[in-house]
Amino acid sequence: MNWSDRQQAMLRAMGLRVWQRTDTAPLLAASDDTTRPARQAAPAPAPAPAPAPVAAPVAAPAARRANPAAAAPMAAFDPDSASPAVPALAAMAGQRGDIAAMGWQELRQAVAACTACTLCQSRTQTVFGSGAALAHWLVVGEAPGEQEDLQGQPFVGPSGELLDHMLFALGLTRSDSDTGEPAARRVFIANTVKCRPPRNRNPGPEELAACEPFLLRQIELLKPRIILALGAFAIKALLRSDEPVGKLRGRLHSYQGVPVVVSYHPAYLLRQPLEKARAWEDLCLAAEIAERLA
Ligand code: URA
Repeated sequence: MNWSDRQQAMLRAMGLRVWQRTDTAPLLAASDDTTRPARQAAPAPAPAPAPAPVAAPVAAPAARRANPAAAAPMAAFDPDSASPAVPALAAMAGQRGDIAAMGWQELRQAVAACTACTLCQSRTQTVFGSGAALAHWLVVGEAPGEQEDLQGQPFVGPSGELLDHMLFALGLTRSDSDTGEPAARRVFIANTVKCRPPRNRNPGPEELAACEPFLLRQIELLKPRIILALGAFAIKALLRSDEPVGKLRGRLHSYQGVPVVVSYHPAYLLRQPLEKARAWEDLCLAAEIAERLA
C-alpha cells in the first residue's frame, strides 16, 4: 500500500511522520501485504510530539571500508569463503583465540564455545545474532532473554515482536533467506552480550568486557552502513557513553566511521509505550541516513 498525497498530508497534520522510500516499495502500514507473517502487522505509532531534528546531510564515512559483497545478490554471499580454516572447537574452548583475526564462521564457533565469563554456566546456548551477513543495517541490543536463550536467536521474545514491527514499518527484514531482498533492506541483529544473564538481570562489567570483542569483530566483518544501538548497553559498547538514551537520541553518532543512531530498547518501549513515537523518529532518522549513503 502506498500513502496518497492526501493521506500523507493528513498523517503529517496529526504529527505522525511518514517514511516513504525514494525507490519503489511501500514502507509504512503495508496491511495489504499477504506475504508476511500475520504477527508482523505494521505498528501504529502513537501520535508523535514535534518531529525530532533530522541530522544534517551525512557525508559517506571516509573510514568505512569498501564492501563489495554488500551490493551482491544473496545467492552470491558466502560468509565463510574468506574465513581461515576453522580450528577445532576443543582447542577454542576456554581460550578464545585471536578474535580480531577470525572469519565469520570461526567467530560463530568461538562464541558458541566461549567460557570467558560465568554466564556460560547458566546459558542454554549462546546467541550469535541473526540476519543476512551482507545486511546494510545492524541492530545492536543488550543480551538474550529467556526465549532467546532457548531458541538461540536474538529478539524472539516480546521485545523482538515489537522490534520486528518497527523494522517492518521501514521495509526492513531480518530474514537471511534468499528472497531477493537487497542488502539495503536487510538487518543483522546482534547483542552486546551473547549469553543470557540469569533472571534477565543486567550484564555486569566483566561480562560486557569479555563479550565485547565478539561484537566488535562482528561489526568489522559485517561492515554495516548504519547501526541502530538500542538501549544503554549497546550505547556504552559502541559510543563509550553513559549518557541516557534520551540525551543521545535524535542525532547522528559514529562508530569507527559507521553512522550510529541510538534509540530506546524495545523492552523499555513495552513498559513506556508513549516513547514509541520517539523511537519511530529515531528509526526514520536512521532510514534517511542509510538512504543518503546508499
Ligand atoms: N533483548 C535484547 O537486548 N536482546 C535480545 O536478544 C532479546 C531481548
